[in-house]
This record gives sequence, C-alpha cells and structure tokens, in this order.
Amino acid sequence: MTDNLIVLGIESSCDETSAAILKGSKVLSNIIASQKIHEEYGGVVPELASRAHQQNIIPVVDVAIKSANIDKKDIDLIAYTKGPGLLGSLLVGTSFAKSLSFSLNIPLVSVNHMQAHILAHFIEHDEQEKPEFPFLCLTVSGGHTQIVRVENYNEMKIIGSTLDDAAGEAFDKSAKVLGLKYPGGPLIDKYAKEGNINAFTFGKPKIDNLDFSFSGLKTSIMNKINTLLQKDKNFISNNLEDLCASIQESIVSILIDKINKASLQTGISNIAIAGGVSANSYLRKKLIELGKNNNYKIYIPKFEYCTDNAAMIAIAGKYKFQTDDIVTDFSETASARLSF
Ligand code: KG4
Ligand code: ZN
Repeated sequence: MTDNLIVLGIESSCDETSAAILKGSKVLSNIIASQKIHEEYGGVVPELASRAHQQNIIPVVDVAIKSANIDKKDIDLIAYTKGPGLLGSLLVGTSFAKSLSFSLNIPLVSVNHMQAHILAHFIEHDEQEKPEFPFLCLTVSGGHTQIVRVENYNEMKIIGSTLDDAAGEAFDKSAKVLGLKYPGGPLIDKYAKEGNINAFTFGKPKIDNLDFSFSGLKTSIMNKINTLLQKDKNFISNNLEDLCASIQESIVSILIDKINKASLQTGISNIAIAGGVSANSYLRKKLIELGKNNNYKIYIPKFEYCTDNAAMIAIAGKYKFQTDDIVTDFSETASARLSF
C-alpha cells in the first residue's frame, strides 16, 4: 500500500460535524462545524445535535473535498466514527459514510472515537515527535476519562477510567455553577490564567487503583460556592479568576497524580495526552513539569487535533485499513457505548 492513500474522515459523535481529507499522514483539509445552539442550554441537547449534523454534513464534506483540492473520485478510503457518542448524531455520519462508500464504490472503515483521539498524535506536522510504543495515554474528553496502555496503532487497553463524571464534564459542570457558557472548559482555562491556584481548596477523591472520580469534586465546589454566595451575592464575580484557577488546579492534580501512578505501576515512561481536555494549558504545563521531574517522555498533541475533528478519524481509519487490513461491512452500525 502506498503512503499516498487519500482518506476522507467523517466525525459526528457529539456536537461537532467534521470532515477531513488526509493524504498519507498529512492533512489536506480538516473542516469543523461547531454547533453554537447548545450554548444557551448549558450542555449538548442530543435531538438538536443530530438535526444540526443533518444540516451540516453535506456542506462540511463538500468544503473538505474542495479545500483539499481533490475530486471525490480520488478518495481511496472513507473512515467514520462508529462510537462512542450520541446515537442520533453517530447515525448521521454513519449513514452518510455508508451511502458515499456505496455510491462511489470506495472501501469503508469504522473508527472508535477514543482510539482516534490517541492516534491524532500520528498526524504528520513539524511541531513535535510522534509517541514511541508502548506508551500510556491520558485520554480526557467531555464524555470519557481513561488511562490507555497503547501497544500499537490498533492494540490498546484501558487500565483506568472514571467511575462517574469525565474530566471535561468536571470542567463544564463547574463552569455552569460559575454561570459560564457551555462548554466552560476553555473559559475556566482562560480566567484561571489571572487567578491564584491556592485561593480555595476542594475535596479530593480517594481511589486506590487507576480509576478516577469527579462527582465528589463537583459537589464540593457547589457546596462551597453556595455557602459563600449567602454571605456575598457577588462572590462569584468578585472571585472568578481565583475560583477558576483553584477548580482547574483540583481537576488537573487528580489527572497528574493518576498518570504518574500508572507510569510507576507499568514501568512505561512514554506518556501522552489526548482528547478535548488535553487542550488545557495548565494540564499541558503540569504534564511537562512531571516529565522533567521524573525523566518521562511527554507527548502533547497539536492544539487543533485535541478537540473533536475528522482528521483524527481519518488517521485512525488509515491504520486500521493499512496495518490490519480491516474493511467495514455495510451491516455494521453506530454504537453509542462502543468500547475498545
Ligand atoms: O474531545 P472533545 O472535543 O469532545 C468529546 O469527545 O467529548 O472534548 C470536549 C471537552 C469539553 O468538556 C470541553 O470543555 C473540554 O473538552 N475542553 C477543555 C478545554 N478545551 C476543551 N477543558 C479544559 N480546558 C480547555 N482549554
Ligand atoms: Zn472527543
């Protein structure tokens, strides 16, 4: 198989409709239509998400093909997100990918969204090196928080995961308590830059193995803020930066402690991060510090490939097709709770 394989990636698992064209491991286009509609509801509304995907999918794929300067007949492979995600949203991308594959007679490959976040590290660009196998990946998104032992492109094992909320949810739910718009993670990151990380302390989970829990932290944040609001109704606006910095410190320290523990337990010192929360500037900084202090090799993905995008789906599909010779059948369908 040549390394000039042209792959169309299609992503529609949550609230981003995305299509990308990859040639080899290089991105020719990566178009993302974000759905603003959810902002006013403080979270993703599944029914509205699938409707927006239906409106966006054709124009997004069309723009991806045109801006890559190729013809649809040049596509060698179509990769789509099978799951995990919102079923209605996944079905839009899945059905579209199947129809295009059928009408143009192009092979089809289904992709696991969480594995694709990890494989985004292998998209070619000149900013940083690709991770060496085996590595541990802290995969942190709006729906998942996992520590994954990555043996190879298609051989991965989850060795720790959240028992309740995901790290992204911890950011977004805390932001909602502070009255910030959805998704609040990037806003907490922004305000935290001006705040004091030690201004407030919140309860920390006590879990012995490599699993995570964030629901107690959310309750601790809500209780503290409600108590303080009774004394000062402007407490949040008067302390927004310090609150954001302290909340961010709590979430990030939970993540850093666990990935360090996983490295000590497994003896693997190549450590990567992936998923939407890996865009967080403080998490990136603390992970680099962890690497320096412990002699770990740290891999941080390019900012634009952290949050949901179809370039990561295309690269994951390419590896499945080229390394394992896997082609997906039309009878295969979307799966909201897809595991590895
Ligand atoms: O991977 P992703 O785009 O979608 C899912 O698969 O869930 O992750 C979205 C999550 C949201 O919870 C969002 O608030 C969070 O990633 N996020 C951040 C930042 N950028 C995105 N959280 C903290 N700091 C950021 N800079
Ligand atoms: Zn994601």
